[in-house]
Amino acid sequence: MNKELIKIAKKVSQNAHAPYSNFKVGAALITKSGKIFSGCNVENASYGLTMCAERVAIFKAVSEGFKEFIEMVIYVDSDTLFSPCGACRQVIAEFSSDIKITIFSNKEQIETTIKELLPLAFKL
Ligand code: THU
Repeated sequence: MNKELIKIAKKVSQNAHAPYSNFKVGAALITKSGKIFSGCNVENASYGLTMCAERVAIFKAVSEGFKEFIEMVIYVDSDTLFSPCGACRQVIAEFSSDIKITIFSNKEQIETTIKELLPLAFKL
């Protein structure tokens, strides 16, 4: 697990715009070429427009021309561990069929893969 990604995911979670849920999430990923992108969740008064931290990080990378990801670290500022939502799993799987994923909270951490989180992912 990449210590730099952990540091960045934790830091970027503090930029979360989460006045409705108060649930701050940070994600950091590293590309095949070693570039790091990060993202936080961005909520909206029209709740359904909210964007998760994982997708912000991926969309930032893709929009800068990077599509091959090796590892993603996701942090939630909570004592409880959580795992990424289904929409984020599908978006992660679009770009990386075997990306490593580390999920951590203030008390716990697990290492997994997108294969484990989204078996038999939908692909065209
Ligand atoms: N959230 C994420 O950022 N990532 C996930 O995988 C699940 C949920 C955010 C969205 C919303 O701002 C808050 O957490 C509560 O759902």
